[in-house]
Amino acid sequence: MVQSSKAARSEVESSGQNTIPQLGFGTYRTGGYTCFNAVQHALEVGYRHIDTAMAYENEAAVGRAIEVSDVNRDDVFLTTKIKGYPELVEYDRLLEAAEGCLQRLGTDYIDLLLVHWWNPAADMESTLAAMDRLVEEGTVNNIGVSNFSVDQLRQAIRLSDSPIRTNQVKHHAYWQSDDVVKFCQERDITVTAYSPLAEGRLATDEQLAAIGDRYGKSAAQVAVRWLLQQENVVTIPKTVTPEHTRRNMDVFDFSLTEQEMAEVSNVEGPWWYRTNREGGELHQLRGALGAVVPDSAYNTVMSRIR
Ligand SMILES: NC(=O)c1ccc[n+]([C@@H]2O[C@H](COP(=O)([O-])OP(=O)(O)OC[C@H]3O[C@@H](n4cnc5c(N)ncnc54)[C@H](OP(=O)(O)O)[C@@H]3O)[C@@H](O)[C@H]2O)c1
Repeated sequence: MVQSSKAARSEVESSGQNTIPQLGFGTYRTGGYTCFNAVQHALEVGYRHIDTAMAYENEAAVGRAIEVSDVNRDDVFLTTKIKGYPELVEYDRLLEAAEGCLQRLGTDYIDLLLVHWWNPAADMESTLAAMDRLVEEGTVNNIGVSNFSVDQLRQAIRLSDSPIRTNQVKHHAYWQSDDVVKFCQERDITVTAYSPLAEGRLATDEQLAAIGDRYGKSAAQVAVRWLLQQENVVTIPKTVTPEHTRRNMDVFDFSLTEQEMAEVSNVEGPWWYRTNREGGELHQLRGALGAVVPDSAYNTVMSRIR
């Protein structure tokens, strides 16, 4: 479904307890003053949805930036995440972890609390019971998950009293999580698309740049716009560059045609993404290495050769 730019614009401006502003601001791989300055600037230019996580070790900088900004806390939609380690998502541990998030963020409520990823060794029933309790107590307004497969999402929906508001997953032109997106659209669950710029790589994509030229927009803006025109999708580009912060939100005065949407969906992308897709060479290699090589070792090797 193609949304009108007017509708999308109004969504980025609204926040409050239950509306997730369609364009948020990511903060992965930044901390300290750099993060503080970036979030402060983002709030100044109009972002009202900030995404952080316990694992990013920057919640204090994010919280402080919100606190000192001219924007009321109630007008900011603040998301954080609890690491998916079994010892952190067990009922009591999760309550303690959430308390830690609140303290570091310097706030008495979180708009959206996510379980960052799922570890099958943990007990999802216990995790979601604790998340429900946080909602009942009023310290968390909405709960959600991240990096959940469709099956894990089904399980979470079944086990939770509170609605699962979002599944935050990697979804961008080079890496499309179509199965999760389709499932979420059918269930009216928001998809929060992370790494919307393929960690910066889409900003130099020539096909996207050519589409952008028609509207006086950059490849990065086309990448963001392509996400915002998908039903139930919100996104959270990250930047610490003030010019990028402004440009990434300047995406509400143009619309991609259906043909351009399809064109972006079909961009090839670098070898890393092509070979990692289901059925691709690296994807098959990972399957073959299976249980012998742990994810951490595989990911470390892959991050060196990318
Ligand atoms: N749930 C999860 O497991 C998970 C995983 C990954 C990410 N996330 C969330 O999603 C957010 C976004 O994802 P991401 O940080 O992985 O990657 P991203 O937003 O796709 O890309 C960030 C990179 O793009 C560059 N960039 C941003 N705007 C640009 C522009 N207009 N032109 C050119 N380059 C630009 C940034 O550099 P500069 O800073 O120099 O502009 C940065 O290197 C994260 O920050 C985090 O909040 C969640």
